[in-house]
Amino acid sequence: MLSSINPTTTKAWQQLTAHAAQMKKVHMRDLFKADANRFQKFSTCENDMVFDYSKNIITEETMQLLLQLADECKVKEAIDKMFAGDVINHTEKRAVLHTALRNFSGKEVLVDGKNVMPDIQRVLEQMKNFCANIHSGEWKGYTGKKIKYIVNIGIGGSDLGPVMITEALKPYWVEGIETYFVSNVDGTHIAETFKKVTPDETLFLIASKTFTTQETMTNAHSARNWFLEHAKDEAHVAKHFAALSTNEKDVVKFGIDKANMFEFWDWVGGRYSLWSAIGLSIALTIGYNNFEELLKGAYQADEHFRTEKFATNIPVIMALLGTWYVNFFDAKSEAILPYDQYLHRFAAYFQQGNMESNGKYVDRSGNKVDYSTGPIIWGEPGTNGQHSFYQLIHQGTHLIPADFIAPAISHNPLSDHHPKLMSNFFAQTEALMNGKSKEEVIAEGVKEELVPYKVFEGNRPTNSILLKKITPFTLGELVALYEHKIFVQGVIWNVYSFDQWGVELGKQLANKILPELITDDTVSSHDASTNSLINLYKNFRK
Ligand code: F6P
Repeated sequence: MLSSINPTTTKAWQQLTAHAAQMKKVHMRDLFKADANRFQKFSTCENDMVFDYSKNIITEETMQLLLQLADECKVKEAIDKMFAGDVINHTEKRAVLHTALRNFSGKEVLVDGKNVMPDIQRVLEQMKNFCANIHSGEWKGYTGKKIKYIVNIGIGGSDLGPVMITEALKPYWVEGIETYFVSNVDGTHIAETFKKVTPDETLFLIASKTFTTQETMTNAHSARNWFLEHAKDEAHVAKHFAALSTNEKDVVKFGIDKANMFEFWDWVGGRYSLWSAIGLSIALTIGYNNFEELLKGAYQADEHFRTEKFATNIPVIMALLGTWYVNFFDAKSEAILPYDQYLHRFAAYFQQGNMESNGKYVDRSGNKVDYSTGPIIWGEPGTNGQHSFYQLIHQGTHLIPADFIAPAISHNPLSDHHPKLMSNFFAQTEALMNGKSKEEVIAEGVKEELVPYKVFEGNRPTNSILLKKITPFTLGELVALYEHKIFVQGVIWNVYSFDQWGVELGKQLANKILPELITDDTVSSHDASTNSLINLYKNFRK
């Protein structure tokens, strides 16, 4: 179990509060002018990845106080407990061991005294053989054709991770395989997917940890019906449906052969499950070896997180900087801005990762917190975002710390596209930091009446993450670093990061309303607004 420490009661918090009052008067521009070594001081380099956090409103004193906060909140103890398989997901009574899924140390990982590594390796072996059979064409559909289409049916963590990774690694897609993802219970999602695939060449992966999620099971049944309309024989289902789940009983009840079930375990959180059997769509799309590279990259990040001292520990620093702005600068949101089109779902993926993990107001003692916890996470790839919402980041009234992520080498080195993209990447963080003074604007010859509009205060904090190239390995590393950032913040904010009771409420409420929608009776069991909306909906459909 994790300790429960109200961060506001720590010495560091008090000191940070006083320090922040001073730092609000400081401009980063001046900090850079005063210290030629600022970049060296506030950046780290991990193999093929540079993490530059020098464009933050921080000094060495800030970092020292933030590190003290991490110590006082017992972050090190929490990290050790997570890796050791302690039941740190207290409200669900579970260990949190997505790190075991990518553990290449050869060491055992114990849950309730049992080493889970043999089971993990067994499922990885099963995934590897399955990929080999599908890719070689040894696995045939009911008409004897090779599988060409993979359709992953899942939602939340059983969808967002595989979508994000397969999109990010498009250059690695296995030839002859096309992958689609269906998540929304809106019939449009699956109906549009049916138009793109053929039943005898399609493998449906029903990805659901619980195998009870309404959206996924509805889509799974529709997929099965659609398939049987063509295949006509239930016996063919075995060649076209596989399940990725922890729930063998319901998988078998659905009609999926036990041999086609890829197991994972309750100590894998949904939003941390891409490394488990939930990653089968990834392995089938980019090839098993590339999937293994992804795991290896994540393992490297795990080792860094577990062993590196906090002063140079990337996820710890990322977490502390985020906390600095949320709790001492009243920042409400954080932007993730990848300068790489392939990473276009990266922010969406971490929206769930962060907001489902740390969007909580009850602390680990069961009390309501009196400080801010997880911020709103959002973002889009640069340069599209520049022509949309960057205006607010530059000149709006909200402070929005932003992560800029870019690869030095593009998979598509078309003429001068990449240098142009990168010039924007560099220019934006520079401009957000420096701003543009009144004097500079006047010196440009701008008419006096327009001067106030063209002045940029600057002092907008950013991190820059520069990777050599987006590969399965570096992507695995990057994703795991962000995962650990979330963990550290949850420890400091004293919340339970691995449950999601807020989501469970939605599931219960929808189940209550559904039967009311399919009768002709007037509904009166809710508040006036909900009753009226439901009844008007029914009228519209008459
Ligand atoms: O969105 C809530 C949630 O519980 C997520 O944590 C999970 O990723 C998702 O639902 C899907 O759940 P399942 O994999 O059990 O279908």
